Amino acid sequence: MSAQAALATLQGKHIVLGVSGGIAAYKSALLARLLKKAGADIKVVMTQGAHAFITPLTFQALTGNTVHDTLLDADAEAGMGHIELARWADLILIAPATANVIARLAHGHADDLLTTICLASPAPKRLAPAMNQQMWANPIVSANIERLTTFGWELLGPDDGEQACGDIGSGRMLEPEAIVARLLDDTSPSRQISHHNHSGTKVVITAGPTREALDPVRYISNYSSGKMGYALAAAAHAAGAHVTLVSGPVQLMPPAGVKVINVTSAEQMLSAARSESRNADIFISSAAVADFRPQHVAEHKIKKGSDNTTILELIKNPDIVATIAGEYSSLFCVGFAAETQSLLENAGSKLVRKKLDMIVANQVGEGLAFDQDSNAVTLIWHDAQQKLQQRAFPMQPKPQLAHQLIDAIFAHYQAHQDTPSVSVN
Ligand code: PMT
Repeated sequence: MSAQAALATLQGKHIVLGVSGGIAAYKSALLARLLKKAGADIKVVMTQGAHAFITPLTFQALTGNTVHDTLLDADAEAGMGHIELARWADLILIAPATANVIARLAHGHADDLLTTICLASPAPKRLAPAMNQQMWANPIVSANIERLTTFGWELLGPDDGEQACGDIGSGRMLEPEAIVARLLDDTSPSRQISHHNHSGTKVVITAGPTREALDPVRYISNYSSGKMGYALAAAAHAAGAHVTLVSGPVQLMPPAGVKVINVTSAEQMLSAARSESRNADIFISSAAVADFRPQHVAEHKIKKGSDNTTILELIKNPDIVATIAGEYSSLFCVGFAAETQSLLENAGSKLVRKKLDMIVANQVGEGLAFDQDSNAVTLIWHDAQQKLQQRAFPMQPKPQLAHQLIDAIFAHYQAHQDTPSVSVN
């Protein structure tokens, strides 16, 4: 899409720009200007703290609209200004979002105009955090961010670099140009398609580890927690798909509205995935399937014996995603590639070898991906000319990453289906 065509996608959009009290509030003036230039209608809502950094008059001059900052304003639409603004918004963007406003939003507070509008509005919500790097690294802030992302909030940033306080690290508000670019990406046709046209799509997702029994009390497995796969299932469900999750043993709550089939071993996972995929449209293999299982499963607990070493004979497990891709040629198959080295090269080989439509390259090891709350990946696929294409998704909480991956996968699936009747608005 050309820059000009992209700009048109914010044309006429109603954006509530929430400004909270941080030094980065000065950047919000430029942000308001850029959004207005892109054709959006902006109404600024300031928190009490924001007044210490910037005046309402600045925003009023830049947006041409009255600035709002009072919850109980008798003059604003007969005292129901928050409901009017909540209904008016096509999008709520909070920039900068301080640790304080993030905490209040994460816990459903409605003690000022901005937080109340957020609770009262069904509009999509984005926040651009801005705070000191130690505060951003604080696990309480991380937990609040994760909570917000599970409720559908999307993060824009923060950036790394030098901070107003002199520290260097993560926590700077994303530059206004970058925020606008991300919003334009949100309004791109592929994303519009994915949000509105997947009510009939059937998706099967595998998640978690498999356990391969050695004897009645021992098994071979890995550190997969299932968080990535469960987040994908929740995101696919939120996008309107019918979702079946074939899950290895994990300690997670089943995502609401998703059919979950619990399995233990790779063979059980293959059997469930195979029967569930028969009438499915998309198969996503995020499970960390054990490549091998013990050749013989002892009937009784194996005795230690007197030798210092022992030999385990292992036999290859079936490759679930390759089997499914081979058996159901019309199924859109997406694999993951968990790699500790040569990430993109190895992932590209797996894409070809397993005959997949797309693969999610995932750097693992050294505390990455497995059993973590956040993840960073690169999606790889072949374009119509059979050229390898890739798109990187930066480190972010798994629920948020899952929404972005599902959007991208659904958009490619849609393009693959080549259905001209799909409307793009
Ligand atoms: O569960 P989390 O803690 O949230 O961690 C997420 C994750 C790191 C497990 C996930 O993001 C991930 O990378 N999943 C793939 C793990 C893996 O087994 O990768 P692989 O490169 O070994 O396998 C390649 C692909 O083949 C994968 O899609 C895998 O599901 C599939 N496979 C592998 C072996 C096998 N026998 N059958 C398979 O279907």
